[in-house]
Amino acid sequence: MKNPAKILTQFPKRALDLNWRLLLFILVSVTFLTYVSLSSTTTTTTVLIPFPSFSPLKSIFRRRAVPNRPPLRVQTRPLNPLNGSRIAVCLVGGARRFELTGPSIVERILRVYPNSDLFLHSPLDSNAYKLLLLNDAPRIAAVKIFKPRPIPETESELRVLTARNSPNGIQGLLQYFHLVEGCLTMIKSYQEKNNFTYDWIIRTRVDGYWSDPLGPENFIPGKYLVPPGSSYGGLNDRFGVGDYHTSVVALSRLSLIPQLDGSGLTQLNSEAAFKAQLTTQKVHFTTRPLPFCIVTDRKYEFPPIRFGVPVAAMSSPGPLSGAKCRPCKPICSGSCVGPVMNGLYKGWSWTNWANNTLELCDAHSEWENGWEELFDEVAGEKLACARKKVWALNMDRCVDGFEKMKETSGPLDGPNPIKFAVWAFKPR
Ligand SMILES: *[C@@H]1O[C@H](CO)[C@@H](O)[C@H](O)[C@H]1NC(C)=O
Ligand SMILES: *[C@@H]1O[C@H](CO)[C@@H](O)[C@H](O)[C@H]1NC(C)=O
Ligand SMILES: *[C@@H]1O[C@H](CO)[C@@H](O)[C@H](O)[C@H]1NC(C)=O
Repeated sequence: MKNPAKILTQFPKRALDLNWRLLLFILVSVTFLTYVSLSSTTTTTTVLIPFPSFSPLKSIFRRRAVPNRPPLRVQTRPLNPLNGSRIAVCLVGGARRFELTGPSIVERILRVYPNSDLFLHSPLDSNAYKLLLLNDAPRIAAVKIFKPRPIPETESELRVLTARNSPNGIQGLLQYFHLVEGCLTMIKSYQEKNNFTYDWIIRTRVDGYWSDPLGPENFIPGKYLVPPGSSYGGLNDRFGVGDYHTSVVALSRLSLIPQLDGSGLTQLNSEAAFKAQLTTQKVHFTTRPLPFCIVTDRKYEFPPIRFGVPVAAMSSPGPLSGAKCRPCKPICSGSCVGPVMNGLYKGWSWTNWANNTLELCDAHSEWENGWEELFDEVAGEKLACARKKVWALNMDRCVDGFEKMKETSGPLDGPNPIKFAVWAFKPR
């Protein structure tokens, strides 16, 4: 068989092709066992791949074979108050710009809590191959990449939810809720299989760019923590962390809808439904500024007015607390920002801007020429290298940088027999 790196480099621009080739490659190159999927909305083939034998895939990004990992070791870093806690990281969403966001998630969440287990729930599309960047994650518990299908809309969902301001209507909301709750399902089944319960669940998005590490001060027993701002009439739902109990409520986005219906709630958007979920279940929540933004390709009018959406420059000092962002030369910074942000409705797209944390892009059209260099400047050499690696799949130039990144981030002495499960689908 051909070297996978070769296969990839032959089709650098044809992502869709690449994706299918890759999946086919996965399917044919490993021994797998099939079992019935957990997903209720899809019929799936499940491919369960023991991680250590997954080297064909790993070798795409890592040339050296990875030795069997030693058994789980309790973390002993003195400064981390979470020592000994079991943490699940739930990563959901499409991989559209994962070459920009993925390495930041690996470095600023997963490596900060190297004993945490990663659960990935993502739709299969032409960008799914970028998720291979997660091979640099310290521990991967389960990966589910599924082919999106329409989700039947129940009467109670049609009553409780509103299609307004949702690009794909109620169906779009349900798809998003399914992504989130499906991750919880994966966590629960992993817990059952291994007879333990996580202490904490970090829920984050594939399209989140983390400019700084997620700090341990964000883990507050008995409270669900979300970022401030971007609350759209409810609660910012772009990130959350909580103990197991609060997280189960926060992530049960589909299954709690009948209860919202029972409480007489109607016409909720995602954020309002999220807030109602917590309040009706009597889960306390709190907000703290968090150093990430949601990288978006969508276009927004500039300047944003009232219910408009501000788009932050990725070079903003931050923390951006999950505001939308893109790489740009800011059109508005310093004293320009206040008047624009004060024109926004505070309970909607507004986000903290005081102390020059925010610089704004004019996002009314495509990403500007030269955005790649703007990103690289903000992200630094290591992350810029990952971007280039995914794009050009230019192994030789970037592998060195990646090896270095591993050395400086501490040893990869996680655990062992983590199962790497890919829920794969045949192409149409
Ligand atoms: C961290 O670990 C040490 C030693 O096991 C323990 O004494 C301490 O209480 C732990 N800290 C926290 C916040 O759990
Ligand atoms: C699961 O863990 C509990 C407590 O740690 C233990 O008592 C029980 O025997 C375990 N069950 C199985 C099936 O291993
Ligand atoms: C701005 O900075 C000051 C001084 O450091 C601080 O007290 C204040 O809370 C900050 N404001 C915001 C909104 O972050």
